[in-house]
Amino acid sequence: MPALVLLGAQWGDEGKGKATDLLGGSVDYVVRYQGGNNAGHTVVVGDQKYALHLLPSGILSPGCTPVIGNGVVVDPAVLLSELSGLNERGVDTSKLLVSGNAHLITPYHTTVDKVTERFLGKRKIGTTGRGIGPTYADKINRVGIRVQDLYDESILIQKVEAALDFKNQILAKLYNRRAIEADKIVEELLGYAEQIKPFVADTTLILNNAIDEGKVVLFEGGQGTLLDVDHGTYPFVTSSNPTAGGACTGAGVGPTKINRVIGILKAYTTRVGAGPFPTELFDKDGEALRTIGGERGVTTGRDRRCGWFDAVIARYATRVNGLTDFFLTKLDVLTGWEQIPVCVAYEIDGKRVEELPYSQSDFHHAKPVYEMLPGWSEDISKAKTFSDLPKNAQAYVKALEEMSGAPISAIGVGPGRTETIEINSFLS
Ligand code: GDP
Ligand code: IMO
Ligand code: MG
Repeated sequence: MPALVLLGAQWGDEGKGKATDLLGGSVDYVVRYQGGNNAGHTVVVGDQKYALHLLPSGILSPGCTPVIGNGVVVDPAVLLSELSGLNERGVDTSKLLVSGNAHLITPYHTTVDKVTERFLGKRKIGTTGRGIGPTYADKINRVGIRVQDLYDESILIQKVEAALDFKNQILAKLYNRRAIEADKIVEELLGYAEQIKPFVADTTLILNNAIDEGKVVLFEGGQGTLLDVDHGTYPFVTSSNPTAGGACTGAGVGPTKINRVIGILKAYTTRVGAGPFPTELFDKDGEALRTIGGERGVTTGRDRRCGWFDAVIARYATRVNGLTDFFLTKLDVLTGWEQIPVCVAYEIDGKRVEELPYSQSDFHHAKPVYEMLPGWSEDISKAKTFSDLPKNAQAYVKALEEMSGAPISAIGVGPGRTETIEINSFLS
């Protein structure tokens, strides 16, 4: 089982960090392939809690080499502070590899992210304000700065000047902001260069060689399928491809090398930021899910919007990612409801629709069609096997599996590493 992708099947925050960390002990490389420090991945090891943003969750597993792939956008200040934060807690980060082709988030990208959101007013996306969109925009516009540019000062100066020529016009003339000086940006970036240098590598070559040698490589997605710039609820998305194909482009590994694609699926649904969300709850059930599930953003501290499980989305995630398995998380949060509604289809303009509509207007009008499943009241956090679960919890999992189109191979019953029921091994 040399290469597997682990990604979010909904709108992010499904529990990817925990799932990656769980497998981390048995894999050789954990690779982030897209996104940046907009991600917030929580990992709980014993009584220690870690919040990772840019670094792959595999960094907490001693035998594992963490890799930041070419498809990631790297804020060098965040990279260094995240590394030193882990070092202070005794985590060895020396094995980290960073692609020389990854793009850099600079202070002007974060500035543009924030002023654009302010300018959009009530139409804003609700971004994390970390400069993600503007950095990917520069990449596609071919005016981005890459990690390798830190090591050629004259190229770095030219590139920063070229990027700022245009941006300063916009900042000054449209947003009424002071122009950003290229010299200051170059000086700041060069200040990071030597500290980052030991990690910089040709990660594509290393990963392909590792797979050819039979090493186990895990690609860890940030965000989730519905936040994908191509397959998500555009424009309320992030600016990269968290879906499975993103692992190929974002790490330089061909699709024929990937054997398994695992979708992390929360037993209910959450979303941060703006955009449509058919099963969203505005009542005491929504509040209860938020409180019991601890649904507050790891990166921005915003309350997450909460709603019931949406099987239409899960089926869509199976389709666009070619999922081979699901890892169902946070089943324990649903303990205590007498009945649990599950969205099995949508009603759009009076018609029942089974698949996610491609039209954004249709999706905005989608009303959930619910089926009621019987709940359970027993504490399930100590369950170690599927048969330890109460009958109704088993039936809930089986119903979700049936509706979602791929086998549920693991179930999360608590935030800790050990609070997991393994049904089929991901590594066999
Ligand atoms: P990620 O962005 O997908 O890595 O997810 P986040 O870390 O942003 O949010 C998931 C939250 O749920 C974290 O606080 C995890 O510690 C927690 N979590 C993960 N799996 C479970 C689970 O099975 N049960 C419970 N109760 N919490 C979980
Ligand atoms: P993890 O990896 C949840 C959301 C933001 C916003 C939209 C665009 O922890 O699952 P961006 O800053 O990326 O341009 O914001 O995407 N968003 C996330 N929501 N979890 C995340 O990451 C997210 N990363 C971005 O809230 O709506
Ligand atoms: Mg998160």
